[in-house]
Amino acid sequence: PDISQVYNVSDFDTISSKILSKGTYSYYRTGAEDEITLKENELAFKRIYFKPRILNSVNDVNIKTEILGSSTDVPFYITAFAGANLENNLEGELPLAAAASKANVIQMIPCLSIIPIPKLSEANPLDKWIQIYVRSSIEESLELIRIAEETGTIKTVFFTVDVAQLGRRETESRVKNNSQFSKPGPISSDLNWDHIKFLKNQTKLKVVLKGVQTYEDVIKAIEAGVDGVVISNHGGRQLDTARSPIEILAEVSPRLKSENLFEKIEILIDGGVRRGSDIVKALALGAKGVGIGRPFLYALQSYGEVGASKVIEIFKNEVELTLRLLGVNDLKQLNENYLSLIDLVGN
Ligand code: FNR
Repeated sequence: PDISQVYNVSDFDTISSKILSKGTYSYYRTGAEDEITLKENELAFKRIYFKPRILNSVNDVNIKTEILGSSTDVPFYITAFAGANLENNLEGELPLAAAASKANVIQMIPCLSIIPIPKLSEANPLDKWIQIYVRSSIEESLELIRIAEETGTIKTVFFTVDVAQLGRRETESRVKNNSQFSKPGPISSDLNWDHIKFLKNQTKLKVVLKGVQTYEDVIKAIEAGVDGVVISNHGGRQLDTARSPIEILAEVSPRLKSENLFEKIEILIDGGVRRGSDIVKALALGAKGVGIGRPFLYALQSYGEVGASKVIEIFKNEVELTLRLLGVNDLKQLNENYLSLIDLVGN
């Protein structure tokens, strides 16, 4: 369909389900096991209700911000995912780089990108981030860090810490007729806090852990000296029945606030974000930025760069609309008083 028929980012999912092969679509869509976490990631946002304020002059709404020291026009970013090059998008991450640089959106480049990191960096001169799986050896990770440093525009390294073994993604496996369990990776299953402290000492880039799911591990991350954490369950693809990131954030946030720990570490989240209102809820609970995964993948596959730009435009418009209707004209004004959390965890 013509892209003017796209009303919201979930429409790209519907379109992808029709135009992609079953194999490609199932790889993108799949969660782990019974896909409880996959569904919960989206649903948990809908159990938070708004408490809008009135009569606040909201003609000018500012959604520009800074995440991990990088300025951006929007409070969300393109998170890292492998497989951007499948089927309909043989230019891999390049259309994302183009869309991100035109709209001043931060792009996280996956270590599994199909396009070499220096080439992606040239295509997008803005501040960017890199995501690294510590997989076969520490040396391999150090080499990637060096490549990232040399670009000059990659400012932060995200170590993904939730893949000690690949989750069992049955939806995808059934389509591909593969009932084997994955094997634990050599270093990824051995990865521990000492590796992170070591890697942190090897670079001047900021370091963030992607895949943190408890208050206790946020505290350990602060102790390890990292600059941020992404509260994430890998889009429901790893440990099924893990909690949604927004529920974890709602639990962690008041504790960090009361101990002044938001000054020590930046909190980001990703998983299940499909509406601007989801983004606003995360920011109101103290997140500095919100990662978007599948909507960009589906849009890339359906419409290439134009699709990626449309995802950005839709989220941007929805965030601005939500703020106006909340009676807020700057992201800085957001706080938990704009939210009702009563239904979130059923207390
Ligand atoms: C991912 N994700 C991911 N994460 C990561 O750190 N490295 C990677 O290579 C990938 N690859 C990947 C592939 C696909 C197809 C998906 C859907 C996801 C996880 C990703 O960064 C992010 O955590 C989730 O996608 C966020 O959830 P949503 O926005 O997809 O619901």
